[in-house]
Amino acid sequence: MKWNQFICPVDGQPISQQVGSLRCDQGHTFDLAREGYCNLLLVQQKASHDPGDSHEMVMARRRFLEAGFYLPIAQKIFNIANSQSGSEREFRILDAGSGEGYYLRYLQSQNPVFELIGIDISKQAVKAAAKMSPLISWAVASNKQLPIDSGSVDLVLCMFGFPVWSSFSKVLNKAGHVLLVDASEDHLIELREIIYPTVTKSGPPSMESAFKSGYQLQSEESLRFKIELNSQAEINDLLSMTPHVHRMTEEGKRRLALVEKLQLTVDLSVRTLGLTSG
Ligand SMILES: C[S@@+](CC[C@H](N)C(=O)[O-])C[C@H]1O[C@@H](n2cnc3c(N)ncnc32)[C@H](O)[C@@H]1O
Ligand SMILES: [Zn+2]
Repeated sequence: MKWNQFICPVDGQPISQQVGSLRCDQGHTFDLAREGYCNLLLVQQKASHDPGDSHEMVMARRRFLEAGFYLPIAQKIFNIANSQSGSEREFRILDAGSGEGYYLRYLQSQNPVFELIGIDISKQAVKAAAKMSPLISWAVASNKQLPIDSGSVDLVLCMFGFPVWSSFSKVLNKAGHVLLVDASEDHLIELREIIYPTVTKSGPPSMESAFKSGYQLQSEESLRFKIELNSQAEINDLLSMTPHVHRMTEEGKRRLALVEKLQLTVDLSVRTLGLTSG
């Protein structure tokens, strides 16, 4: 674990390791958990006592992802990262909102030379991620204030997440990119047809605010494949990873409870953005 990949979230000073904590030159200290992650989230960055995904949500995500249902997504981001990285130097990838760490684990298994950093606002998610992958650097932190040196990151991953363009620009180097994966209009359409009386189709989030922050779209492709869920447990695990779990009605829940098998369309937008046109 390389703690020097992080900086003090209060004043941006370098941090070094003490017993059970990290300390900056100005004396700010931060917890170093025995699971192998650090907590760099400042109290004022928390909207609630325990922000982000809960332990149950993290475990549901882990079961679903470890079952391999989203392996084509992991393969796609590996191919993009690999084509961007030169072979002669380390390539630093930050997963901004890394959840329980599935995508970084996959990247590491495919290319151990990648320098990987995962941050998430959910302590439960980071704890679960760190337990499984001690070679990746993990911190509880917010995309709104990334505790990472300016200009040091080659690729920011934002998978089904919450991009904060100004923070991403700060940590990216000049030739760096953001890789975004978002739901497209047919994503999990068969599930949505069960849980909603009428389905509203909308595409992936607009890039207007990214363009206003100086980014340019460099590539955009769609990733579509089918998955088959064969139990209520698998269906519920997937559901808890989606915003539908908060939006669906009681009637929707009743209808879904009758379903044991579900063939689903995964329909995603995979976009890369850069701060220069290159
Ligand atoms: C839909 S989940 C996606 C997780 C992971 N990227 C994946 O695809 O498995 C969104 C994640 O963003 C995290 N999150 C929410 N707000 C955040 C913020 N301001 N900074 C960093 N992470 C945040 C949540 O805790 C959650 O783990
Ligand atoms: Zn400090």
